[in-house]
Amino acid sequence: MHFQWYPGHMTKAKRQMQEDMKLIDLVIELVDARIPLGSRNPDIDELGRNKARLILMNKADLADERQTKAWMAYFQEKGYFTVKLDARSKAGMKAISEEIMKACREKIERDRRRGIKNRPVRAMVVGIPNVGKSTFINTYAGKACAKTGNKPGVTKGKQWIKLNKNVELLDTPGILWPKFEDQEVGLHLALIGSIKDEILNIDELSLELIRILKEKYPGVLQKRYGVEEDQANAELLLGIAVNRNCVKKGNEADYSKAAAVVIDEFRGGNLGRITLEFPES
Ligand code: G4P
Repeated sequence: MHFQWYPGHMTKAKRQMQEDMKLIDLVIELVDARIPLGSRNPDIDELGRNKARLILMNKADLADERQTKAWMAYFQEKGYFTVKLDARSKAGMKAISEEIMKACREKIERDRRRGIKNRPVRAMVVGIPNVGKSTFINTYAGKACAKTGNKPGVTKGKQWIKLNKNVELLDTPGILWPKFEDQEVGLHLALIGSIKDEILNIDELSLELIRILKEKYPGVLQKRYGVEEDQANAELLLGIAVNRNCVKKGNEADYSKAAAVVIDEFRGGNLGRITLEFPES
């Protein structure tokens, strides 16, 4: 996964997206349901002005269902159509097709008034890296042609993938850059694995995760690792190291290994379905 956003890349990617926007009726924006705001780049609102908008809350299988529902209401209130999703499974297809039709009702009616029949809705998938754009396109279009990865600014001949008789999708997703100037957003992106681990301090990251879990999901750490939660975060991490037998030479606790365990298990959904951002805050 690339995560170096040089200004040149951003400008190119943005210009490409502006061009692509001229071809489409609908923007299908993927966000990560665990951090629905942090995984968006609000620039898309400007880029997608005057287009129908659908937000897919992807990786909903990993997020807290109650919060996902609240976030969907939040986005709907702001005028977006929205569906929750696990892009790896075809199960969401029907709901998405229905929502696309609702989101594009105006366009479809306008066509009808002008005597244009059966002109498919044209759509484009956008989102920051790692939200599941390629997975979504592959699952829904069943083609390997979505394997463009995260290469901002790569231009190819435009190809349309037919989703069904009413909808065509641009085969290359639009890549937005994450906005991690905000510390909290940066932390959330790091926790879900959207920032390269090599540039992160895993020990610190795990302590932040422990802090959030203690506050928002009390009992989760106790249940998983048998640790008391009313102790300092570093002590708690030590408890996890003991529970998971993370030891270094000389029988010393290996904090970094324990830190990696908690983070991996969080990312893999082993700690349960957890959301890091809440619409009410
Ligand atoms: P991108 O194009 O937006 O950059 O994202 P991509 O589809 O490459 O997906 C990034 C990772 O997220 C992939 O995992 C993918 O399998 C996973 N993923 C996508 N959608 C979902 C979802 O709804 N739920 C869950 N749990 N995971 C999802 P990976 O580990 O990078 O690759 P792999 O394990 O699929 O090989």
